[in-house]
Amino acid sequence: MPKLITTKTDLRAWRASQPGMVSLVPTMGALHEGHATLIRAAVAGQEPSGSTVVSIFVNPLQFSPDEDLDRYPRTLEADLALCAAEGVDVVFAPEVAEMYDPSRQVGVTSGRMGTVLEGASRPGHFDGVLTVVTKLFTLVRPERAFFGLKDIQQFALVNRLVTDLDLGVEIVGVPTVRDHDGLALSSRNTYLSSEERELALTLSRALRAGQAVRASSPSQVIAAVREVLAEAATGRPDFVVDYAELVDFTTFGPVTDDFTGQAVVALAVRVGTTRLIDNVQLDLHPA
Ligand code: PAJ
Repeated sequence: MPKLITTKTDLRAWRASQPGMVSLVPTMGALHEGHATLIRAAVAGQEPSGSTVVSIFVNPLQFSPDEDLDRYPRTLEADLALCAAEGVDVVFAPEVAEMYDPSRQVGVTSGRMGTVLEGASRPGHFDGVLTVVTKLFTLVRPERAFFGLKDIQQFALVNRLVTDLDLGVEIVGVPTVRDHDGLALSSRNTYLSSEERELALTLSRALRAGQAVRASSPSQVIAAVREVLAEAATGRPDFVVDYAELVDFTTFGPVTDDFTGQAVVALAVRVGTTRLIDNVQLDLHPA
């Protein structure tokens, strides 16, 4: 079993005793195969004297008042078993009161890149993410930290965080893990009924439609994606597209038809009461 640490004092004491490289996988728990893939990558890349920490903390700062903070799944026993099976050394699972002083004032702001797409739909979300990630980096002092490309705007912003604030942590991105039918694994998939799950497959189908025409123009790529989404939404009030955009991977700003380089098709859709996101990275070199 991994060592379970719940206080900052114990975590700091453990960290001070570590001779080798420390890797961190930050999570909110309810671990699934997507998280397990990040954990496996962290453990596999570890030095013999190194150790791997998984943090499990449902961070209230990144949820707005109308979001699913209270109903977010919490499955600590199963999460510990998964971490044990993957060879994790430490699970850091603090309570909210341990992480946040009730009179706290200072946090990290995510800038313009934190206000578009996910940031536009969820104001303050990325400030909350970057604040907790900074605290975790400060407490754990990892050499490496692992993030999923499933949350690509989060991944891009964590890279900016490290660059802009000179945090000196190597950020490793791990490709999105999908179910056999293409649905990106997410802790929120547990909210879906079987009918909703069918409908949720539209996200990966729309991304594949965009990918299929990547050699055409950026406007044709996004048109192909939106067509699949619009068709699914017709007559379905339980399928609501929040956004479907093609953006520059480095800035998350819009791309024009003469754009060349790394772009991202990013989607957010509400299926019933569940909000799902997905994306695909495209190397665009239109003729
Ligand atoms: P959470 O949603 O638990 O995700 C933890 C990590 O697992 C993130 O880096 C996420 O991108 C990755 N992940 C989730 N599903 C994945 C999938 N299907 N394939 C690959 N990676 C996947 O993201 C968060 O928590 C929080 O915002 C956090 C960074 C922990 C800060 O609170």
